[in-house]
Amino acid sequence: MEFSVKSGSPEKQRSACIVVGVYEPRRLSGIAEQLDKISEGYISNILRKGDLEGKPGQMLLLHHVPNVLSERVLLVGCGKERELDERQYKQIIAKTINTLNETGSMEAVCFLSELHVKGRDIYWKVRQAVETTNDSLYSFDALKSSKGETRRPLRKIVFNVPTRRELPFGERAIEHGNAVSEGMRLCRDVANMPPNICNPAYLASQARQMAEQYDNLNVTTVGEEQMAELGMNSYLAVGRGSANESIMTIMKYQGAANADEQPIVLVGKGLTFDSGGISLKPGEAMDEMKYDMGGAAGVIGTMKTLCEMNLPVNVIGVLAGCENMPGSNAYRPGDILTTMSGQTVEVLNTDAEGRLVLCDALTYVERFDPELVIDTATLTGACVIALGKHASGLFSSHNPLAHEILNAGDQSGDRAWRMPLWDDYQEMLESPFADFTNLGGRPAGSITAACFLSRFTKKYNWAHIDVAGSAWNSGKNKGSTGRPVPILSQFLLNRSGVEQGE
Ligand code: BES
Ligand code: MN
Ligand code: ZN
Repeated sequence: MEFSVKSGSPEKQRSACIVVGVYEPRRLSGIAEQLDKISEGYISNILRKGDLEGKPGQMLLLHHVPNVLSERVLLVGCGKERELDERQYKQIIAKTINTLNETGSMEAVCFLSELHVKGRDIYWKVRQAVETTNDSLYSFDALKSSKGETRRPLRKIVFNVPTRRELPFGERAIEHGNAVSEGMRLCRDVANMPPNICNPAYLASQARQMAEQYDNLNVTTVGEEQMAELGMNSYLAVGRGSANESIMTIMKYQGAANADEQPIVLVGKGLTFDSGGISLKPGEAMDEMKYDMGGAAGVIGTMKTLCEMNLPVNVIGVLAGCENMPGSNAYRPGDILTTMSGQTVEVLNTDAEGRLVLCDALTYVERFDPELVIDTATLTGACVIALGKHASGLFSSHNPLAHEILNAGDQSGDRAWRMPLWDDYQEMLESPFADFTNLGGRPAGSITAACFLSRFTKKYNWAHIDVAGSAWNSGKNKGSTGRPVPILSQFLLNRSGVEQGE
């Protein structure tokens, strides 16, 4: 999709379609008003007849509006003017894009970026419009033998901004929006890929491919042999039942002027399939456990966005690739593992494997002397029960970092909600035989999982984002959402100090 911005009046646009808003009840937006004037009341006449009330998401496509140069005018219901919020704005954009794509307009001039959304500037509105557009046109058909093709697909959108002064903000918004979309696309493609193709080696190969495209990105891998030398016994134990080798992929992006500037480290849980292991999961929806690498997909996607924006920061992305399978060689409940940190863990459930992989990855990254570490993982079913799919769970004992991440979530629309990480919960991990167990019991399951990780992150500032509910959709819209690419990318964008809105 090609995006651009301009500043002009609607009647002068010569395009396949121009898109303008109508508020409820039957109230023309300023732009629609202008069109109504030059068409001598054509639009208000139609509204009077009851064709469009202006309810959010209502669409009315008009052809050959008198004195208007564009072939079509799409009237879009925007609801009550005072009530237009972020969620509605995005829903309206998504609906508009689908309508345009299905009704043969290959290009459009969109005036919806001029709508008033409470507390949001033109940069935000254009950027969200770009991301929402790309998001609604995404489909994963790489493995379908016949691809469903739209006959006259939407190719080009021009967003209009009120005055010339806003043009640079609009242009920057398109640039950033496209970069985030690229990262989300990669995240979704990798996550949607089936587990017979997407295994830990596949994650590594995707990262290597990316390194070929960008000069300041370097990729190395740590395989099972090297993990054994490093004492990563916990990570290794999880992968032992699988025929696919465990591989940890390290992506180093060097963007800061000072090469020695301490890096921000992102660690993603990359369970390319989580069967539960010997503590086998029930069969229902087990296919969805291919998405248990959603954290790693989020990290590789964020690295893509970072490379596209070429931000002046140093970032290291770690994809903790592994497969959790039962087998004669698999680890078992009762096993006691010595982690890379030296701490011992009694395995009470082989399905609580994510923390066992992450703990060694989190110890491994100490060697980078990180500025801070954020790990992201589809870690617990309990997080889905607590927050559903709308918010990711955020855990951190470092308040400034937690606020920074929450803020990035709010700005990007990929929101997180903070959960407690109080020491009170730590006792749920007590073990009679080892330093602690990998299982906290049913209450507060996402918190005890985070507590487990916190025992491996004492040497740096750290936050954990549980994306078990937000990384993919189940049901008829089954598929990766591209989250947490937006929140992580926004965090890096804010850190980089690169200009955004006004
Ligand atoms: N990958 C799962 C968590 C998960 C389950 C994410 C369902 C999304 C949907 C994780 O490895 C797991 O199995 N967690 C267990 C932990 C339990 C055994 C303590 C869980 O949540 O049930
Ligand atoms: Mn599991
Ligand atoms: Zn898992």
